[in-house]
Amino acid sequence: PVTAVILVAAGSGQRLGYGMPKAAVPLGGEPILMHALRGIVAAGIASQVCIALPAGEQELRRLCEDFRLELVDGGPLLTMVDGGASRADSVRSALAAVEDGTEAVLVHDAARALTPEPVFHRVVQALAAGADAVIPVIPVVDTVKTVAATEGPAADIAPELVTGTAPREELRAVQTPQGFKLSVLRQAHEAASGFDERQAAAVTDDAMLVELLGVPVHAVRGASQSLKITTPLDLIIAEGLLEGPLG
Ligand code: CTP
Ligand code: MG
Repeated sequence: PVTAVILVAAGSGQRLGYGMPKAAVPLGGEPILMHALRGIVAAGIASQVCIALPAGEQELRRLCEDFRLELVDGGPLLTMVDGGASRADSVRSALAAVEDGTEAVLVHDAARALTPEPVFHRVVQALAAGADAVIPVIPVVDTVKTVAATEGPAADIAPELVTGTAPREELRAVQTPQGFKLSVLRQAHEAASGFDERQAAAVTDDAMLVELLGVPVHAVRGASQSLKITTPLDLIIAEGLLEGPLG
């Protein structure tokens, strides 16, 4: 399918704590955004890459414009938009700039800058085979429990009480790029634009909006190298991946 990739890079990077947008933070001497962008182009699946940048960020915009000049004939169209207050707002801004004639769209976190090419291919292959929605996943290594704030005498002992244990074999950690038939993702985000603040805050990926429409979401194998650079520890791991045998 004619495929656009939305690259969301408009976050502020609070947890990384560099005092600059996360996409601008250097990894192996180059901004995280550039690694993500090169990865998408190298995968060779995109007719268009639409990047949501922090509003008013000039330096990243300039780097993207320079990168555009490096693209050879037949490479993807590069589009830049201002992102929004939430990740979903950034996706919606980028969706509005997706070219006519596009059939499928992948939504990818700039923070997953080291995503291996085969992951892009697995997602696109599932779309080509007829999936309306597809996400890359990996098994969960930790046991996952639900908790609630403690009340009454229990609160004197600990702040939270365990309410259940999820069966680990059924759990998957979800990554990006998440792939969708364009019309399906547009419909899902239109529905979500009417959410109140509490509902909007609960939206952590695009697939969950599609799930709310009742559309089946397929899962393909992701990769541990696709880690989302979120904390300083993640950045150390990403630096190691670049230098090590996996880089
Ligand atoms: N993102 C975005 N627009 C936002 C918020 C997030 O485009 N308003 C993007 C980020 O740039 C990132 C991806 O969504 O590539 C995943 O978000 P996250 O890892 O949470 O990044 P930040 O929001 O920047 O980090 P933090 O939550 O620590 O501030
Ligand atoms: Mg965030």
